[in-house]
Amino acid sequence: MRTQVGIIGAGPAGLFLAHLLRQAGVESVILESRSRAYVESRVRAGVLEAGTVETLSALGLDARMKRECMIDDGLDIRFRGKTIHLDLPGLTGQHVVIYGQQEVVKDLIASCISLGQPLEFEAKVTGLTSLDGERPEIHYLQGGEDKVLTCDFIAGCDGYHGVSRAAVPEGKITHYEKTYDFAWLGVLSRSPPLPDMTYTNSDRGFALCSRRSTQVSRLYLQVGADENPEAWSDARFWDELHQRMFDADKVEIVEGEIFQRDMARLRSFIAAPMQYGRLYLAGDAVHITPPTGAKGLNLAVADVRSLAGALGHFYRTSQRDKLARYSEHCLKRVWRTVGYSTRMTELLHKFPEQGAYRRELQFAELDFIHSSRAAQAAIAEQYVGMPYEPI
Ligand code: FAD
Ligand code: PHB
Repeated sequence: MRTQVGIIGAGPAGLFLAHLLRQAGVESVILESRSRAYVESRVRAGVLEAGTVETLSALGLDARMKRECMIDDGLDIRFRGKTIHLDLPGLTGQHVVIYGQQEVVKDLIASCISLGQPLEFEAKVTGLTSLDGERPEIHYLQGGEDKVLTCDFIAGCDGYHGVSRAAVPEGKITHYEKTYDFAWLGVLSRSPPLPDMTYTNSDRGFALCSRRSTQVSRLYLQVGADENPEAWSDARFWDELHQRMFDADKVEIVEGEIFQRDMARLRSFIAAPMQYGRLYLAGDAVHITPPTGAKGLNLAVADVRSLAGALGHFYRTSQRDKLARYSEHCLKRVWRTVGYSTRMTELLHKFPEQGAYRRELQFAELDFIHSSRAAQAAIAEQYVGMPYEPI
């Protein structure tokens, strides 16, 4: 098989890229190791910045999102009995949209299939060859058979544990990494959510109340990195959440049936440059931000907008100038976003090793934000997301 752009991974990065390339008249094939059902049911992010919403709209894929999404125009931070309320439209003129990542993925896959966009499920990529030649190749395993996809370019959109980044020769890529000693235990519950996205920094640790619909809450607790999610019975989860949210009477947060759980360790990771030869890396394959900023998915979309722009330009003009700038262009946004997510992580979590001195500094900072509109505006501006700059 042969194509112009071979895309590894049918997560948000790979799927958006295929659609954007198609719009630019560039053909591609997506190879995904998992089944369609698995990919569509993987619960992850839920906060879409304006740039991500615009991208779905520009592709004509926003009909269901417009019907089912929730507009999020407030963000609360609770600490020591106080609440910082960030009025997003008042502070920034913008809001964010709540629409689950797996819903975005379902919409993108359905449209790929109806447009005839080549998308192979259960096609596990095993290796990449000739990355620095004219015709790089993707080797994959499908139905017990070894196959090869020959491409002009390869887009590595295969997430943190994928094979693309690992195919770059040692010494040609630098890894920057920070792993935290804690994780988020996330659940979905059939219960009406709090009216605003609410983060809390309590003496028992961080918690977050988000939502997916008027009847489904998405809730997170900071837990130890090595904790077993099974050790968290539903009763223990609710009890801990009430305490961390300062909901002493247990009436504010409505309990419901917990029907999904997952656990993710917090880390920051950036690999640079985001390109080697004819391999271009995008999304979680090349950077991870701690989820406290709700940025991972949005950053993946910004990457592939730039990559589709640069590849479209190459096929129209035979000029490689935009492809040459891809990594530098994306990394500016990546580092700023990782910086913001790191600051939010450090402000809102209880660090196991942090003594009373650092803890008091955290609360002094929260008190300052509570009293300063300028400090609130700075957080709100980064939360709604920076404008997308075309490559
Ligand atoms: P992915 O979504 O990881 O997609 C990569 C795809 O590549 C997958 O479908 C995978 O199956 C496929 N693949 C991997 N290896 C191969 C191979 N060898 N061959 C073929 N295909 C392959 N962000 C937030 O903003 N908020 C959150 O609450 C949040 N929670 C998260 C929870 C978890 C457990 C994880 C892992 C991430 C979370 N994120 C969250 C981050 C956000 O979901 C990601 O940033 C987003 O999924 C990135 O999209 P992507 O397409 O780059 O990667
Ligand atoms: C979510 O709704 O899943 C969510 C919201 C805010 C975050 C992270 C995740 O910071």
